[in-house]
Amino acid sequence: MSKDNKLNHIGFIMDGNGRWATSRGLTRTQGHKEGLKALENLIKVLAEDSSVKQASFYCFSTENWSRPALEVKTIMGLLKDFLQNDIQKLWENSIEVKIKGDLSEKSPFDNNLRSLLLAVNDKKLEEPKLIVNLCINYGGRDEIIRATKTLIAKGLEVTEENLESEILQADLPLDLVVRTSGEQRLSNFLLWQSAYAEFIFTDYHWPDINAEKYAELKDSFFNRDRRFGKV
Ligand code: FPP
Repeated sequence: MSKDNKLNHIGFIMDGNGRWATSRGLTRTQGHKEGLKALENLIKVLAEDSSVKQASFYCFSTENWSRPALEVKTIMGLLKDFLQNDIQKLWENSIEVKIKGDLSEKSPFDNNLRSLLLAVNDKKLEEPKLIVNLCINYGGRDEIIRATKTLIAKGLEVTEENLESEILQADLPLDLVVRTSGEQRLSNFLLWQSAYAEFIFTDYHWPDINAEKYAELKDSFFNRDRRFGKV
């Protein structure tokens, strides 16, 4: 049965880099490196899929800072490398990138990395074929609280519409959230945006995602019956 679903915005909780690596006798660092490769390959696939307009990826949560210092350093190193060496190719391919998360002065990034992240948000493309949101130092509750505080500071009424303009900015509501690696929870990812999202939880780990698995996810999504609270 084919349904009239739209997949404008897809979100990924990229779980299982560590388990992918340890099950192969590799280090967790190698797992994160493979995770980043899988992310970059999937972005290429999504950019060729004209039905998808936005893709959001949970890269690093506000809670992830409490991982062992070496692991945090590794992930931040991969991020810096990605921003310095790889992001240009995405821009050249008409893919706009946004960093969602707390990039304020009080955030724990080092100054150099923080400026690189802020510069990404300054780069706007004319007619992007895909917008990629990278959620880094991100927490869904934190985002809603920061948006509410902004409304209050601006003297605006706290309404759904006003909150959306602050939280979502140009975000579309999420149509589908995919979490790899078997856990069935949202872990503070895009809470507001996922109000009516469909969910898929896969048994495979993040580094194993590829074009074929993405096609399976789409098949499953387009066979769902979405009613948005109606009958
Ligand atoms: C979850 O796997 C993964 C993360 C917390 C980090 C995600 C990072 C990447 C995909 C690479 C970095 C991306 C950028 C843009 C720099 P886990 O470590 O929780 O796996 P486990 O649950 O098996 O231990």
